[in-house]
Amino acid sequence: MTTEVRFVLDGRPVTVPADGTLLDALRGPLGERSVKDGCAPQGQCGCCTVLVDGEPRVACVTPVRRVADRRVTTVAGLPDAAAWAEALCATGGTQCGFCTPGIIVRLAAVTTAGGDREACAEALGGHLCRCTGWQPVLDAVGRRGAPVPERDPGPAEARAAIEGGVPQRVGAAVALGAGGFAADTAPAECLIALRDRSGGWVVAETMTEARRLAGRVQGRRTTIAACPPLDAPPGDWVRVLRTSWVEPAYLEPDAAWCEPGGAPASPLANGGAFGGKAASPLPAVARTLADRHGRPVLALSTREDVARLGPKRPPVAAGIRSDGSGVLRVVATPGIDEVVRTVAPGLVVEQVAVPGPPTSTDIRGAGWAEALVLACSLGERDLVRFRGGEAEAVVDDDGIHVRVVPGAVLDEVVLRSYVTGAAHQAYGWVTSEGVAVDGDGAVLDLTIRSFGVVRAAALPEIRIEVVPSDAPAVPVSDAVFAAVAAATWRCLGYPTDWPAGVP
Ligand code: FES
Repeated sequence: MTTEVRFVLDGRPVTVPADGTLLDALRGPLGERSVKDGCAPQGQCGCCTVLVDGEPRVACVTPVRRVADRRVTTVAGLPDAAAWAEALCATGGTQCGFCTPGIIVRLAAVTTAGGDREACAEALGGHLCRCTGWQPVLDAVGRRGAPVPERDPGPAEARAAIEGGVPQRVGAAVALGAGGFAADTAPAECLIALRDRSGGWVVAETMTEARRLAGRVQGRRTTIAACPPLDAPPGDWVRVLRTSWVEPAYLEPDAAWCEPGGAPASPLANGGAFGGKAASPLPAVARTLADRHGRPVLALSTREDVARLGPKRPPVAAGIRSDGSGVLRVVATPGIDEVVRTVAPGLVVEQVAVPGPPTSTDIRGAGWAEALVLACSLGERDLVRFRGGEAEAVVDDDGIHVRVVPGAVLDEVVLRSYVTGAAHQAYGWVTSEGVAVDGDGAVLDLTIRSFGVVRAAALPEIRIEVVPSDAPAVPVSDAVFAAVAAATWRCLGYPTDWPAGVP
């Protein structure tokens, strides 16, 4: 059997070893880092989408042998990639940018074939974006090629940092995949480290070899439904809420690289991962392995690692009375009492030890959003004030309506993108998101599609009213997250258990 494969990559002939996947060949020997690994080898997130002879293909499940003598086009080889990137920046259709190169490839293929916005929304069913809430992505379909207005990146990046909680770049380069992700900035001579079946680390010269040594059998989605693990506290309650284990579902799996004796690259390259990477172990792993091997090491989590080991939103079971008093049971999570007490001093917090994945108060709104959702349900409006920002939401047959008071707007495109993303995430939390966990605490849903993230074509229209002021800029997207969750719950008639299904 031949040991090499020849094909045409972005217009130039290339030759690579014939083993492994097209994704690993592109990112490895060919050094094409615009093609992202969000879930390999699951083939479900769309981040590694390329064109093979003009047809979209997911590179992580395409054996490199299969593209012999064919044409492979990445976002870097698309003639109108720059126009797509500018359009996505102009609409807020990219934030961290990890999903965006694959989405650009898909949108280019659909529109080249004559597809409209609706066709694009359907085609995005093969992709996931956790940041933008889809609507700004679809708005870019009609913006491609339009004049690009003058825009100061300073205020845009300031608003992104306020909402995301970490520094974030804004610009067309980010949309083309240059967000500075650790797996992309790693030197070519890095050893690759992956977890093996025992949870230890294997180290190899190439990703293909590391995957082989790790010997992992790909986990799947379970047919067991996600369900709340805690019983509601006894009491005479006006409202009862029970939530499930929820995956933060950030698109870029944890990654870090390090030189021997050096400082590890941060896994928080261009976004906050909704708190999911705040305590990532990967930097320490990269440093330890680099010191041990005397070589730079790139340590990577697979999607399955993130699903099994990454922190989840702590499930709750709570009851509230009409005066705001009540009990909030929550899966034991360090610091959760203080978080809840800050927003709902009338709720007694009971931490319950339950076998399950790790939980964290770092996850967006963990604890306080549940408390405020309960409080909102006692009143007439779903209005949330948090960290100086204000958001009010209504969910009805016309879609999701959000009003925000962010102080100084700074950059309305970025602001609206974050608000849309938070609304999308909240709507999904109430209706469809959750992972099944067995009685021993093992996560059963191990694929990125099994987290329940709402797809582009299934998301109600989101309308946003921005109320500016001369006050200092304050974050609003976390307040939006809680307000939209409260409004979605109201719209559904306050079912006790989440995920509650779509209206
Ligand atoms: Fe889509 Fe971040 S911009 S996942």
